[in-house]
Amino acid sequence: MLKAWLGVLAIAVLAVPVAAPASSMLRAQRSSPGDLELGGDVGGLPQGSTRYVRYGDLLRLPQETYTVSDDSNFPAKTVISGVPLTTLARLFGQSPQSTLIVAICYDRYRTNYPPDYLAAHHPLLVLRINGKLRDEWPRAKTGAPLGPYLISHPFFKPSFKVLSHEDEPQIPFGVTRIEFRRESTVFGAIQPPGNWPLRSPVAQGYVIARQDCFRCHNRGVEGGQMACRDWLQLAAIASSDPMRFRRIIHDPASVTPGAKMPGESRYDDATLDALTAYFRTFSGLRAEPGTK
Ligand code: HEC
Repeated sequence: MLKAWLGVLAIAVLAVPVAAPASSMLRAQRSSPGDLELGGDVGGLPQGSTRYVRYGDLLRLPQETYTVSDDSNFPAKTVISGVPLTTLARLFGQSPQSTLIVAICYDRYRTNYPPDYLAAHHPLLVLRINGKLRDEWPRAKTGAPLGPYLISHPFFKPSFKVLSHEDEPQIPFGVTRIEFRRESTVFGAIQPPGNWPLRSPVAQGYVIARQDCFRCHNRGVEGGQMACRDWLQLAAIASSDPMRFRRIIHDPASVTPGAKMPGESRYDDATLDALTAYFRTFSGLRAEPGTK
C-alpha cells in the first residue's frame, strides 16, 4: 500500500514542472518583493488588473540564452538567459489589441516597446546573468541593483534614424512591472494635436520624444514619472523660453547643477527645432483632471 502511494506521489512530483500552464503562475497576491508584476491586458482579466509571477516560476518557462557584447549595463561580454517579452505576452494572455509592452522600473522610469521595436530587436526579460541567479548578480555602474529584472537584447542594431536621433537600445534595469497595452492609448497620450505630415518638424519631434523623453516625463498616467515634470510643464518651457529648453536637452547640468537628466549633446539644431515645435503644440493645454 505504502509503495503504491509513493508511486503516485513520484508521478505527481515529476509531472508538475512540465505540465503547469503559464496562466497557473498568475497570482492575485504578491509573495515576495522580487515577484514580477503584470498589468494592462493580462490573462483575460478586466483591464487594470494586476497579477504577480514568482521569479522561480519565470525560470520554469522556456529560456533563451545569448552572449551579449554591446549592452552598456554589462562591462564585459556577458551571457544572459531569460524569456523574450513577446513570449511573456503570449503566455500570459495578452489580448490581440495590446501589442505594446511597457516596462516600469522601481524609480518610475518606464520603457515602451511598440511592435516594430519588438520585431526588430527581440528584447528579453533577463533571469540569469552568466548563469547566475538574481542574488549573485553584479550591480549597475551607478551601484544600484540590476534586479529584480532587466531587459537586454541578443545584439542591437539601430532600426531607424530621425534627424540626429538614432533608434536607441531600451535596456532598463530595476524593472518591477510589465504591462501589455494598446499602442493607441499609450502613444495617443502624446500624439500632437492636429494633422502633421510625416516629414514635418512636429511629426519628427513626436517620434523622438516618444522614444526618448517619454521614458522619464509623463503625460497623465502614461509615460515615466521619474523626472516629476510632466509633458505640459515641458511644453510651457518650450513655448516661453525655447533657448532654455534647448540648453536643457543639450546639457542639463548647465541649467540645473547636478541634473539627473542625461544630456543629448549629439542632437543638432534641426533636431532641437523639431522637439521644440512638437512640444509647443501642447502649450496652453490644461492637465486633465486627476493627473498632475
Ligand atoms: C533618463 C530620464 C530623462 C529623460 C530621458 C529626459 N529627461 Fe528631462 N528631466 C529629467 C529629470 C530627472 C529632470 C529634473 C531635473 C534634473 O534632475 O535633471 C528633467 C527636467 C527636464 C526639464 C526642466 C523642467 C523644469 O521644470 O525645469 C526639461 C525642459 C526637460 N527635462 C526636457 C526633456 C526633453 C525634451 C527630453 C527628451 C528629449 C527629456 N527631458 C528626456 C529626466 C529625463
